Amino acid sequence: MGSMDMLSDRVPLIFEESRPGRTGAEVDQGEPSETRALELLGAELCRDTIAGFPELSEPQVLRHYLRLSRLNYAQALNFYPLGSCTMKYNPVVNDEIANLPGFAELHPAVPPAMAQGALELMARLEGALAEITGMDAVSLHPAAGAQGELTGLLIVRAWDRRRGGKRRKVIIPDTAHGTNPASCTLAGFEVVVARTGAHGYLEAAEIRRLLDDQTAALMVTNPNTLGIFEAEISAIAEALHQAGALLYLDGANLNALLGVAKPGAMGADIVHVNLHKTFSTPHGGGGPGAGPVAVTRELERFLPLPRLVRRADGLWDFDRERPDSIGRLRAYHGNFGMLVRAYAYILALGGEGLEQIGRLAILNANYVRHGLEKNFPVAKRAPSTHECVLTHDLEERAGVSTLDLAKRLLDYGFHPPTIYFPLVVPGALMIEPTETEARETLDVFIAAMNQIYREALEQPEMVKQAPHTTPVARVDEVTAARRPILRWTPSPDSTTKE
Ligand SMILES: Cc1ncc(COP(=O)(O)O)c(C=O)c1O
Repeated sequence: MGSMDMLSDRVPLIFEESRPGRTGAEVDQGEPSETRALELLGAELCRDTIAGFPELSEPQVLRHYLRLSRLNYAQALNFYPLGSCTMKYNPVVNDEIANLPGFAELHPAVPPAMAQGALELMARLEGALAEITGMDAVSLHPAAGAQGELTGLLIVRAWDRRRGGKRRKVIIPDTAHGTNPASCTLAGFEVVVARTGAHGYLEAAEIRRLLDDQTAALMVTNPNTLGIFEAEISAIAEALHQAGALLYLDGANLNALLGVAKPGAMGADIVHVNLHKTFSTPHGGGGPGAGPVAVTRELERFLPLPRLVRRADGLWDFDRERPDSIGRLRAYHGNFGMLVRAYAYILALGGEGLEQIGRLAILNANYVRHGLEKNFPVAKRAPSTHECVLTHDLEERAGVSTLDLAKRLLDYGFHPPTIYFPLVVPGALMIEPTETEARETLDVFIAAMNQIYREALEQPEMVKQAPHTTPVARVDEVTAARRPILRWTPSPDSTTKE
């Protein structure tokens, strides 16, 4: 096989391109690396078989990875309207700041006295997040939204136990993000499902109906996963507090609230925030993220260890002696590079800039909703916030499913929206444009969606076989999920591969 599999358009694996003895430029680093590794690690940690690295020339390696990168879809390439994910543009300046040697080369185990600048940055970010959420204290510790949820729920449990309670239930609406019930179960709670009202938000009457002396908290996302503001949140908070329970507000959709509303003012006791959504840090391939947790003064003592504190002499330090704390959830102090990026973003925008974000995110979602509503009506009539959840009648009219529409959108060069979520909306299309898209981009997207609607009626078979223009055609998603092949194993004759 040549360096490019011309017949199938498939980029060969780098191992397939390998030829024994082929190398790139060699930089003389003195001692052979194997000897150095043996010295540093000791023989017990070093394998005695060759790891089997591919052998290629420098241009081959460069071309290989460049070709692969061109097969990928990225926010930096085009519109990424994935609902519930806030795939906004991540400004390059964030990366530049995070790559400053003083931040990038700082070892997490360095003594606090030698990392005062980094700790000051963390303290300022904590302060900014407290201000934005309207809460009293923040921990930057959790590494993702889901870990923030677990942290928050462990705080609920610690708070309840400290009062001598044994409350075991957490109420969650039927629109909840999947991580919410998972985190509740992990934290040892039983999930009680609340039904969303006819207008697309939780009604206080439903929460009052479910509340009892076993309820530890309600966990609710605001705006919720229908993209609708929880209009009765203050009355719900009051009902919870009267019943001796807490309000956990999943702040993953904070993008819609920035500068417009504060969870603290809604009566929240605990909030987690996804920095990789609202504050433009990269989502990564499952990480590293950051899901800081903000709480009221009453709950501060339960926050994870270590706590960042200012000593009497003015220096920043870590306090590890907090008997009520839920303890450590991960190594070191959060994903520091993400904290630097988020802080750079907050500083670059300032208060007014952050306020613009919330307003523009809402404007863009409603612009898309309006442009599509003839063919893709909203699931609930209530006004949309930062995202809109749409439906369609193509399944009945043409046998074309939401998945088919999403696949066809790839042919138009767009990443598809989130589909089939939230679960309460059959065949849902969930679109979150974010504030970073220009009106022209939204217009092209709206035109593409409406064109696909017409195609689905006129040429349903063509739509059902989409995508037609991507490097990989429609994949067998069930087999890919259930039996993924994650590792290449060379076959004896080295021409066939797994
Ligand atoms: C509403 C909501 N809650 C929680 C999460 C979980 O966040 P993470 O993916 O960082 O674990 C998400 C993720 O998108 C979300 O949309």
